[in-house]
Amino acid sequence: MTQQIILKSRPVGVPAPGNFEIRSIGIPELSKGKVRLMAHTFSVDPYMRGRMSDAKSYIAPFAIGEPIMGGGVAQVVESKAEGFKIGDFVLGMIPWQEEMVIDAAGLQVVDEKIAPLSYYLGILGMPGLTAYFGLLDIGKPQKGETVVVSGAAGAVGIVVGQIAKIYGCRVIGIAGDQKKIDYLVNELGFDVALNYKTEVNIAGAIAGACPDGVDGYFDNVGGEISDAVISQINKGARIIICGQISLYNATSQPVGPRIQPTILKRSALMQGFIVSNYASRFPEGFQALAGWVGSGQLKYTNTTYHGFEKLPEAFIALFEGKNLGKLIVEVK
Ligand SMILES: NC(=O)c1ccc[n+]([C@@H]2O[C@H](COP(=O)([O-])OP(=O)(O)OC[C@H]3O[C@@H](n4cnc5c(N)ncnc54)[C@H](OP(=O)(O)O)[C@@H]3O)[C@@H](O)[C@H]2O)c1
Repeated sequence: MTQQIILKSRPVGVPAPGNFEIRSIGIPELSKGKVRLMAHTFSVDPYMRGRMSDAKSYIAPFAIGEPIMGGGVAQVVESKAEGFKIGDFVLGMIPWQEEMVIDAAGLQVVDEKIAPLSYYLGILGMPGLTAYFGLLDIGKPQKGETVVVSGAAGAVGIVVGQIAKIYGCRVIGIAGDQKKIDYLVNELGFDVALNYKTEVNIAGAIAGACPDGVDGYFDNVGGEISDAVISQINKGARIIICGQISLYNATSQPVGPRIQPTILKRSALMQGFIVSNYASRFPEGFQALAGWVGSGQLKYTNTTYHGFEKLPEAFIALFEGKNLGKLIVEVK
């Protein structure tokens, strides 16, 4: 028997512990092409909120009564799949279960000697690749430009800001906690970081921090923060729509300023993307990120919850801003 966490009901507004249920289940026998895994580290990610709703999206919703699926690293304890041996650590989309038998197709063996296992869920994994392709492919940062990133102290944001610094930009981060603000400026070298929870006039604060206007905006949060940044864009600015976390729990249709006149008058580009659009280029992104991590140009940090049963609490914490860097759950 093992433990599994299922989606018990679809959240309305902010997810609550009662939307999840932990239960005991049996484990099937191993068959050809499958591996038996013990979970090691789970990733909790904001996009999973979308899968908890049944609204049409780019990825199918989680089913009620079925386990939550997410990114994770697990260890092979039995294998009937070529290329996977006992003791290997694998990365993939796995169910929220302590022990599992799953198809090995889609799993990737990862090497603890190259990087800590948690990095494959963060800077060298999906969030790092999101920052890399969104910023460089859509944002096209140029030396001397001003780049603003919201959700700046999270898994994606801290990578975005540091890559923009590598490209010679002036970088302004927006986050919701003084500890995060200090980390961005003192540890990561952001030029300015603004606390949107304590700034009385966030548009004024952004204007003050960006005397030459905004050339690139990496939008992780949407809502009023983004309205304020977009009002400051320069001619030819690039707005990268990566995430809209401030709207994920909205229970009515959010409305805001009509931004098309600004986009028109400033000849700006605004483009959304999903990181999987770049799947064929992931090896390029991984190489670049690993190179910067190896040379010390990219720093990274995690917020770690311990214990399998903490998964729902950790996921909910994303919406409360409790994480600095990547939020992960280690089973032990
Ligand atoms: N397009 C893609 O393919 C793709 C891939 C990965 C992630 N994303 C998106 O990128 C964004 C960041 O993801 P992540 O994994 O790096 O998460 P994260 O930033 O590590 O964690 C979420 C953070 O969002 C902030 N937040 C929560 N509610 C907020 C609100 N109402 N207003 C403003 N900020 C709020 C909190 O920080 P504060 O303390 O600053 O409030 C929280 O720590 C998310 O929107 C996510 O959906 C998109």
